[in-house]
Amino acid sequence: MNLFHEAGVVILDFGSQYTQLIARRIREQSVYSEILPANIRLSEIEERKPSAIILSGGPSSVFGDSSPKFDSTILDSDYPILGICYGLQLLIHQSGGTVESTGSGEYGFAKLKVHNHDSLFKTIHDGTQVWMSHMDRVTHIPKEWTVLAESENGVVASLAHENKKWVATQFHPEVVHTIEGETILRNFLFDIAGCKADWTAGNFINEQVEQIQKQVGDGHVLVGVSGGVDSSVVAALLHKAIGGKSVAVLIDHGLLRKNEAEQCVHALKDGLGVNIHLYDESEKFLSKLNDISEPEKKRKIIGNQFIRSFEDIASELGDLQFLAQGTLYPDVIESGISHGKTAHVIKSHHNVGGLPDDMEFELVEPLRELFKDEVRKVGRELGLPDSLIDRHPFPGPGLAVRILGEITEKRISILQNADQIYMDILHDEGIYHEIWQAFSVLIPIKTVGVMGDQRTYENLLGIRAVTSSDGMTADWYRMPEHVMARISSEIVNSVHGINRVVYDITSKPPGTIEWE
Ligand code: XMP
Repeated sequence: MNLFHEAGVVILDFGSQYTQLIARRIREQSVYSEILPANIRLSEIEERKPSAIILSGGPSSVFGDSSPKFDSTILDSDYPILGICYGLQLLIHQSGGTVESTGSGEYGFAKLKVHNHDSLFKTIHDGTQVWMSHMDRVTHIPKEWTVLAESENGVVASLAHENKKWVATQFHPEVVHTIEGETILRNFLFDIAGCKADWTAGNFINEQVEQIQKQVGDGHVLVGVSGGVDSSVVAALLHKAIGGKSVAVLIDHGLLRKNEAEQCVHALKDGLGVNIHLYDESEKFLSKLNDISEPEKKRKIIGNQFIRSFEDIASELGDLQFLAQGTLYPDVIESGISHGKTAHVIKSHHNVGGLPDDMEFELVEPLRELFKDEVRKVGRELGLPDSLIDRHPFPGPGLAVRILGEITEKRISILQNADQIYMDILHDEGIYHEIWQAFSVLIPIKTVGVMGDQRTYENLLGIRAVTSSDGMTADWYRMPEHVMARISSEIVNSVHGINRVVYDITSKPPGTIEWE
């Protein structure tokens, strides 16, 4: 634990779908937050020296036999506590109040009658809109607790302890539908709990530089770079920490976006002085993909060849004891090890197929504590260009899953050229950042067209753009008509091999984001 981890917040996770969101909202206030298992012991919380504890929501009922509880000695400590939804019910239940299921819950928007405009509701408007998602409700207020707000339905929406710094909300201040949620959280963090706002990209970098130096000592580190933001930030961070003792490697499988490998290497090498090597392995990949149309076979072939290339390159580079990779906090949480410090998993998202378990590297994972938006901030602070930092996500198997059917060099080139025009237009129209992921798909079905006096018989191009927050669900982007017209006309007029463009209006579910 470093100094600026202290005076932060620990969040005890009772299984809410919003727990990660609570952590992100707090970090947006430059306060460190960490998600811990609900039943963690008080002594382990104390080791972290937090300024406050948040009890998350969750799907259980506090009166159920197997309902998750927290270490009750927490209530004997002086920590300020914020209970949210199930967290509120638990606090009230453990303080001698009553929580019951009355047969009807509150789901969705609600308006608040605020009775007390001090502490948690300082500057909050009466009638403010909040987001509710609960079945059970408080029916008896325990001694020493006061109701701060009710919903229009007369349900207790917020309470505070009269003598301790314990507050609770039945609604979710962390979701955007709670209009003044940010202020409510700030009131808790800074006015009630006295948290410190020193969780910044600059502090994070300084800390990691020290930690990497300590972990690596005189050793050497191999950094696998994919062209995307996470691994580029890792490479930049490693360079800052240990300079030439880190060797970054970008394997070009020939299925990246146009000039992507070169741009990434340019940003890292010429921009920051990172020791990075570009390996053009495209012939190996493409020869193995010859005649292959089935998407999962493509993925497998690329994954296996990736491992082979990576192993060859690693042994060629000599004695490297460490491997650095861009594991992020959501991966750590999702693998259920947010509590442990040593359980390292090799993850596969950056390196298409994942690396073999028997590679004898010690892992360096400097982004394990960060959410994606924090990685971007760190990347900016390290001096990486916006063009790299803000790039839409890109799948490991790359254009292989965007060329339906067989992959040939000609098809790759057609798709790269068309996609470049599409991306340039989105930037030029100022809408690239409204979109979570946009790309083109080559559909090698020929249709008839006419250009000048000539009949054409060429491929179809699918254009996809989606909005999403994490790629798990997505909606198709309502592309302005004039932009669609521009995309179609510029691509058909300048990319030989495409004579028709269609726009994909399928959300996920039932569709997926990629076509293969
Ligand atoms: P789907 O198509 O499953 O995509 O809705 C969700 C997100 O995952 C990306 N994706 C992949 N990423 N290897 C990757 O590294 C893959 O095989 C792969 N398939 C899909 C996709 O681009 C989107 O961001």
